[in-house]
Amino acid sequence: MAILFGLLISSLSLYCDFTDAECLVVSPARLVVKHGDPASSNCSSDIPVEMAWEATQGGVGLTDNKVKILRWRVDSVTDWNIKPTCYTEGGQCQEQLNITVYKLPDSVSISYRKYPDPMVEGNQYLLQCLVQNIAPIGRLTVTFYKVSTNGERTVLYTQPLNNDIHQLNNDTREPVNESYSLQFSPTNLDDGAQLLCSAMLDLGPEGPRPPPVMDSNRLNTNVHYKPQITMSPGCFSMSITEGDTLSLNCSAKGNPAPSYDWLLSHADPNPMEERSVVTITNIAKSHSGDYTCIARNLLGNSTCTVNVEVTVDYLPIFAGLAAAVVVILLVVSCFTYSSYYKHRRMGHYQLKDMLPRRHKNKHVVQHNGMDQSFM
Ligand SMILES: *[C@@H]1O[C@H](CO)[C@@H](O)[C@H](O)[C@H]1NC(C)=O
Ligand SMILES: *[C@@H]1O[C@H](CO)[C@@H](O)[C@H](O)[C@H]1NC(C)=O
Ligand SMILES: *[C@@H]1O[C@H](CO)[C@@H](O)[C@H](O)[C@H]1NC(C)=O
Ligand SMILES: *[C@@H]1O[C@H](CO)[C@@H](O)[C@H](O)[C@H]1NC(C)=O
Repeated sequence: MAILFGLLISSLSLYCDFTDAECLVVSPARLVVKHGDPASSNCSSDIPVEMAWEATQGGVGLTDNKVKILRWRVDSVTDWNIKPTCYTEGGQCQEQLNITVYKLPDSVSISYRKYPDPMVEGNQYLLQCLVQNIAPIGRLTVTFYKVSTNGERTVLYTQPLNNDIHQLNNDTREPVNESYSLQFSPTNLDDGAQLLCSAMLDLGPEGPRPPPVMDSNRLNTNVHYKPQITMSPGCFSMSITEGDTLSLNCSAKGNPAPSYDWLLSHADPNPMEERSVVTITNIAKSHSGDYTCIARNLLGNSTCTVNVEVTVDYLPIFAGLAAAVVVILLVVSCFTYSSYYKHRRMGHYQLKDMLPRRHKNKHVVQHNGMDQSFM
């Protein structure tokens, strides 16, 4: 039993020694090479051995002498599937050079299925990003961007590396054409924005840093949308003083540019022009009522109603009345004074004679009135 166990152990260790193949070291063990570029790696051994490089390009036959180092070198790597392997005589030891041959895309382009065209808010559009002649596809990341009118770039979607569709192609080492798609629902804010996609080839630490990125053309979006009114001062009730100027600015955002109509609840002999601004100078009480603005375009219309109440400002009337009273008082006092002065100059006696008589009359009238009220 013990003998059997020992045999198992020794055979296991033998097996491990063989597969580990620690006898050869390939350095560098991993290469990232641009298609068409040169590449080289060294195979070395602690003890001199007869060794060789087996490769579709730059292969080196078994050395005549025992060597400690053997170089593999190619001026221009063109085989996408190149897997140079260093081995010793008989193949007891072998080590593979891990090599990635890459190629940047010939073109990256974005397009969308143009129906309906131009884009209409709320509809769904299939954006397509076509990356041509790229290798290896498994290292590619595609990102869709939106560049707003102020130049700000936002990510719409990033196609992950291990996407289901591309899982199958992940191991493909030859260049391929690949298209990525994204459902895009434009909003009014996207009108005038640009869409683009970008392809990034991330080849890991051995590859070029930062990873090469290639942008597509830019799609200018023209998004049609229903008018949206931005009424100034707003869609609410307001009051205005008679005689002032009423100015309502019903400007609306919309694509195509909206046309305007005003509906007034009060009878106005002059129909309003199809303009965004309604202006009434020297407004009268009869102009009170609802002012409804309608902004229309192909996609619909939106309305906004402002209730205008024309009020009369009593302050100037009061001031006017007060002024009139003051003037009247002034006139009366002037008149009284001047007549008094005149009388005084005309004669003391005459005035004295007149006054009691006047007073008497007044008293009589007053007395009569009082008498009547008592009756
Ligand atoms: C391979 O070894 C040679 C000789 O030692 C050296 O000159 C060369 O730089 C090495 N190449 C690489 C890729 O390590
Ligand atoms: C090559 O290197 C990559 C990254 O280090 C690794 O995932 C892959 O398994 C290696 N391939 C071989 C055949 O050694
Ligand atoms: C990729 O597309 C281009 C242009 O349509 C074509 O010439 C090329 O053969 C295609 N490559 C592959 C790998 O399908
Ligand atoms: C109306 O408002 C819009 C937007 O605020 C502005 O561009 C336009 O000049 C205004 N029109 C008038 C006549 O004030």
